[in-house]
Amino acid sequence: MTLLALETSCDETSAAVVRDGKILSNTVSSQIKLHEEYGGVVPELAAREHLKNLLPVAQSALRDAGVSPDQLDAVAATQGPGLGIALLVGFKAAQAFAFALNKPFLGINHHEAHLYSPWISGNPPVADFTNFQPNVSLIVSGGHTMLVQVSAELKHRVLGGTIDDAAGECFDKTGKLMGLAYPAGPVIDKLAETGNPGAYDFPRPLLNDPSDDFSFSGLKTSVRYFIRDHPELLDDRQKVCDLCASVQAAIVEVLVKKTIRAAKRLGVKCVTASGGVTCNSALRRELARACTNNGFTLRLAEKSLCTDNAAMIGILAERKFLAKVPLPSLDEEIQPGWALA
Ligand code: KG4
Ligand code: ZN
Repeated sequence: MTLLALETSCDETSAAVVRDGKILSNTVSSQIKLHEEYGGVVPELAAREHLKNLLPVAQSALRDAGVSPDQLDAVAATQGPGLGIALLVGFKAAQAFAFALNKPFLGINHHEAHLYSPWISGNPPVADFTNFQPNVSLIVSGGHTMLVQVSAELKHRVLGGTIDDAAGECFDKTGKLMGLAYPAGPVIDKLAETGNPGAYDFPRPLLNDPSDDFSFSGLKTSVRYFIRDHPELLDDRQKVCDLCASVQAAIVEVLVKKTIRAAKRLGVKCVTASGGVTCNSALRRELARACTNNGFTLRLAEKSLCTDNAAMIGILAERKFLAKVPLPSLDEEIQPGWALA
């Protein structure tokens, strides 16, 4: 089966061609430069940029894959969650494409695509579900932070999620307070390499709460007041590195401890993680350490597939199509707030 997938839920315009679990191409055009001066994604600008870039990106994905439109068996797109007007662009384009080709259209949940992305690996990347293990999965990005129990392929339930800000937003907003460029997550990661994570003591919200929920707005506020009371720190590069390492340590400790605790409680042997924040080196390192100490297998999404991409949308669409899971089709609408079941 050969499938074209489109993803435009936020600020990445992406198209991928997937065939029989293999990613033949995955083109991603990032809008980071466009939104940088605003310190966050401006939905109207994102949608206009998707409009401009989508066809060239789709053409490039088809060209890289060596696939012509008449060889496609289906077209998939992210249906939600995401920014409404950004989603509309890729979703409607994919429906029109499917309509013109007289092929099925498959609408995919963005969170669910992240959830199965750790099972894609190698070069060229291939999805391998033959060694699938029940797992507890952490999905952590700029827009979402959640823990999910995956009991079998395509069978999962949400254990908990953030009650306010996502972890990625906490990275981005605290970094903005330090005057770092948007998105600050990768910048904090870099500066933290030479910082002392024990330099400043920030709260670990909901760490000991019995739920699997997260909260990061209090941590953000605490960093805000700390910087307000110690503005001179920002003039000293080493202290900024210490600040980055300390904020990162607080976020990572909560994510890792709550993930491991859920995995132990549910008796699974495998932990997985995906989403943009899974690029974070401290998170990758600490999850690996905690999994080794507790006898869990760890599957981290590859860095190139952690941030938003159409390949994960295509892989999930193909699995669902082959498993005959009913999927939203041509007469469906976008679902900006479509929660993962
Ligand atoms: O998955 P993604 O591309 O988009 C959303 O669906 O949100 O994730 C983007 C988020 C941003 O908040 C960005 O700062 C964060 O992932 N991020 C990182 C790192 N790389 C990306 N956060 C911490 N450390 C990183 N290395
Ligand atoms: Zn995402």
